Amino acid sequence: MELANYRREYLQGGLRRNSLPDNPLSLFETWMQQAVAANLEDPTAMVVGTVDERGQPYQRIVLLKHVDERGFVFYTNMGSRKASQLAQNPRISLLFPWHGLERQVHVTGQVERLSTLDVMKYFSSRPKDSQIGAWVSHQSSRISARGVLEGKFLEMKQKFANGEVPLPSFWGGFRVKFDSVEFWQGGANRLHDRFLYQREQDGWSIDRLAP
Ligand SMILES: Cc1cc2nc3c(=O)[nH]c(=O)nc-3n(C[C@H](O)[C@H](O)[C@H](O)COP(=O)(O)O)c2cc1C
Repeated sequence: MELANYRREYLQGGLRRNSLPDNPLSLFETWMQQAVAANLEDPTAMVVGTVDERGQPYQRIVLLKHVDERGFVFYTNMGSRKASQLAQNPRISLLFPWHGLERQVHVTGQVERLSTLDVMKYFSSRPKDSQIGAWVSHQSSRISARGVLEGKFLEMKQKFANGEVPLPSFWGGFRVKFDSVEFWQGGANRLHDRFLYQREQDGWSIDRLAP
């Protein structure tokens, strides 16, 4: 298998300065709707980048659960590696790899923790088994075998058999207050379109970047 031979042309469309909205959120929402309409797998999946105290970057996929003017929202375990890194350094990077549409969107910003009320609202909307799953896993900690998780799941399923599953104190979410959003659309002959929005005092600057 010669990896260097895997390449293709990107021909689905272009992005022009005069078609861009003033606010990146509105273009993001249009692209998200198109990603859903195109039946991309996991259209809400984003690669989340954080750094540890040595400046070592880490990435993992997380699902976007909400977005509005205030930011991009995701949920996770507050004892996890990403949450400890974000507690030290709230700077974060999000990447939506919509390559089925020959697109990617890159967001930078800083996180704030969601209120317990917001977390509670989302947690109570999850299927019961997912709620129980949240109780089972102390995300990113070392475990000896899968059986530990399965045993704990059964134990928790019995414990919460009747009534609501309470919100675990270690479960929470973040809102990414975004200060830049870059849209990438593949183009023929590697002449891709890239536009970078950066937050300014009142509004957004927009620059075309070389591909
Ligand atoms: C498609 C997909 C969706 C995921 N969604 C989430 C999510 O919404 N929240 C989450 O904490 N982890 C999610 N994960 C697991 C993370 O990628 C990661 O393994 C976990 O959060 C632990 O990361 P950390 O040790 O860097 O904190 C998802 C993984 C995949 C592949």
